Amino acid sequence: MSPPVQPIRNPEVKRTQLFIGNEFVNSVAGKTFETVNPATEDVICLVQAGDKADVDKAVAAARLAMKRNSVWRTMAPAERGRMLMKIADIIERDIVKIASLEVIDNGKPFSAAVGDIKVGVACLRYYGGYVDKIEGRTLCMEDGKMGYTRYEPVGVVAAITPWNFPFMLSCFKMAHALAAGNALVLKPPEQTPLTSLMLGDIVIEAGLPTGVLNIITGMGPTAGASLTEHPDVNKVTFTGSTEVGHLIQKASGDTNLKRVTLELGGKSAVIIGKSADLSKVVPLAQDACYVNMGQTCCALTRTFVHEDVYDEFVRQSAELANKTRAKVGDPFSDDIKYGPQVDKIQFDKILDLIDVGKKEGAKLECGGGRLTEKGYFVEPTVFSNVSDDMRIAKEEIFGPVQQIFKFKNIEEAIDRANNSEYGLAAGVFTNDLSEALYVSNALESGQVWVNSFMPGGMNTPFGGYKKSGIGREFGWDGLLPYMEVKTVIIKM
Ligand code: NAI
Ligand code: MG
Repeated sequence: MSPPVQPIRNPEVKRTQLFIGNEFVNSVAGKTFETVNPATEDVICLVQAGDKADVDKAVAAARLAMKRNSVWRTMAPAERGRMLMKIADIIERDIVKIASLEVIDNGKPFSAAVGDIKVGVACLRYYGGYVDKIEGRTLCMEDGKMGYTRYEPVGVVAAITPWNFPFMLSCFKMAHALAAGNALVLKPPEQTPLTSLMLGDIVIEAGLPTGVLNIITGMGPTAGASLTEHPDVNKVTFTGSTEVGHLIQKASGDTNLKRVTLELGGKSAVIIGKSADLSKVVPLAQDACYVNMGQTCCALTRTFVHEDVYDEFVRQSAELANKTRAKVGDPFSDDIKYGPQVDKIQFDKILDLIDVGKKEGAKLECGGGRLTEKGYFVEPTVFSNVSDDMRIAKEEIFGPVQQIFKFKNIEEAIDRANNSEYGLAAGVFTNDLSEALYVSNALESGQVWVNSFMPGGMNTPFGGYKKSGIGREFGWDGLLPYMEVKTVIIKM
């Protein structure tokens, strides 16, 4: 067995500039913004803040890379796949450096950062292997005609990503976009820009042609919005809030009808039947809610429990959350499971919503406050007696706050689980197979997990019903929205 990897507590910040056409440059206006370590509240460094003028330069560089007969356009598919594999190898080699930087910028535990980066690597390899298997069809036609389809890149893709899984999501977006043959302009989150910037050096080392990846750090309403409005961007792929998802869809409609893939918020339900084994499902349900300090779009936050096991489920959940308090702390420490929330805005939002929950009459079983004087740490929190009309039952809290609801029969539980404007994920925890299948079919949700949480991989499509988004990522379904289908028909 190899020894456990040790983090670097003071990782080097090598890059804070924009990456355009294979060069690191300052923003045109010379503006910068601070990025903060949420465990200590210290400013790590200043980062260049890109705006419209910088976006114009990055899109032009990407467009050049996509020119007819360019190196990237004419590269053999197997070679394009090899580029993604090479990028994956370099990331894997540098994983300690990248994960350590992610820890100070984001606050997640080192082991979690390593885990995320491995998933990013897996995605690059999965799609690296896909590139030379993207094949069109020969179409069924009458005599005298021949037709076939080709999958072609959509062109210049803009990816706008959030702070909860910064490096991993940058890898996901890059893997999809580049496998399909596009050029990419990446806009990392302003809260956690540092690890995504490392991709600049990585793609240079891998030999990716100039302009295929460009990185514009900056704010959403300036750098982000300029991308969504740009007439020469063909597609936007976005992960983040539903609110900004609306703006992106609108910007597309107002400009050039750019394609959009939106992976947005959730308020995902898990239904726990009376046959469930509590010793297994209590920790499973809580992990599925608190994952990444609750900062996960597909966290299972609305916990519906059958009345026969409800009281015991609540008691055990509160007991477990109380124990977990000791597992929240310094993200570099080996003994912890959770770090701080990403920034003061998220921290305040969570504490406000906890307050709202108490005022609306939910029962606070444990937690509910800040954990330390310094750093954005929130106590693991459990609410029982939650009713469907409360704000904590409807709004995305994005923190370690579990809400437990009681139900009498399965039809009622399904209706209440579906009574949400979101539809990203759902869980069914039961030992009754018929119940598992019946409920899975009935839930209005992009993914349903039976007796597990996030069991999927790179070949399992992920995305939302309703206001949780548009389109899917991963697998063939995830690759399709990065391509145009061209039909060629020949009359003989
Ligand atoms: P956000 O949606 O504002 O930020 C995500 C990304 O969008 C960032 O890169 C940001 O710079 C960019 N952005 C912001 N405004 C934009 C605009 N007008 N045009 C283009 N890009 C823009 O999310 P935020 O404010 O960081 O978090 C707010 C809430 O959103 C969270 O409390 C949580 O409920 C939800 N959220 C959901 C995520 C998910 O994984 N689906 C991830 C992050 C947040
Ligand atoms: Mg930060």
